[in-house]
Amino acid sequence: MKVLVTGGAGYIGSILVRRLLEARHEVVVLDRLAFGDEPLRELAGRPDLRLVAGDIRDRDLVASLVRDREAVVHLAAIVGEAACAADPKLAIETNFEATRHLAEASVAAGIARFVFASTCSVYGAGRASRLSEESELAPAELYAETRVNAERALTEVARGGFRPTVLRFGTVYGYSPRTRFDLWSTCSRPGRFATTPSRSSAASSGARSSTWPTWRVPSTPRSRPTSAAWAARRSTWATTARTTR
Ligand SMILES: NC(=O)c1ccc[n+]([C@@H]2O[C@H](COP(=O)([O-])OP(=O)(O)OC[C@H]3O[C@@H](n4cnc5c(N)ncnc54)[C@H](O)[C@@H]3O)[C@@H](O)[C@H]2O)c1
Repeated sequence: MKVLVTGGAGYIGSILVRRLLEARHEVVVLDRLAFGDEPLRELAGRPDLRLVAGDIRDRDLVASLVRDREAVVHLAAIVGEAACAADPKLAIETNFEATRHLAEASVAAGIARFVFASTCSVYGAGRASRLSEESELAPAELYAETRVNAERALTEVARGGFRPTVLRFGTVYGYSPRTRFDLWSTCSRPGRFATTPSRSSAASSGARSSTWPTWRVPSTPRSRPTSAAWAARRSTWATTARTTR
């Protein structure tokens, strides 16, 4: 199968690309190489792999790359709450808007198989019970919000044979050619999984409000939103989605 992997030079992507090649798929990677090309360097020269150093926000590039593909695995993102808070505009453009466009381009190209890497962060933190696809969503940070709204965008653009699969990954661990040591320290931090006010939200909401006037995120301290609060936030998102496409 001819597969496009966005973010294929990342922690998960650099392993996935190897697995796809082992399974005899033909792979194109689109990655802006924020962490360099080293994770894929030993694969250079393979006839079944093409690395495109580019940005998923480049709509023409994306449209040209999906044209001959049969499947898309969408991993490229600004990953984690700290990274999103550092540049909220980039996070929204990459995680939400570019995802929506990639899905639209995939629909236009007649692609049926589309796998989207979402995150368990969409459920918020501090839950005692087991979670399922039916569990209430309670994203407490911009990162999780961009993922939730990207999920929604996928379902909105879905038509014809396009059937996106959304995987809400838990935190991945272990070695990769681009090992994310930030995850190791995050997972081992005491109280990481307790419900705590966000460190980053105050800074990021200030940055957002000047450039994204329709963006509404509750100010700190953050607790898990109620169903009503989440419904209100979703309607704000719908406005944002319409005005930023
Ligand atoms: N690692 C985890 O534990 C975890 C958990 C839940 C969800 N996820 C999701 O899995 C996906 C991959 O995560 P990861 O841990 O491999 O992250 P990563 O940061 O290692 O990889 C992301 C890759 O995307 C690329 N990228 C970023 N912005 C881009 C852009 N605008 N255009 C092109 N490429 C761009 C980066 O260069 C990088 O190679 C992400 O979507 C993330 O939200 C990861």
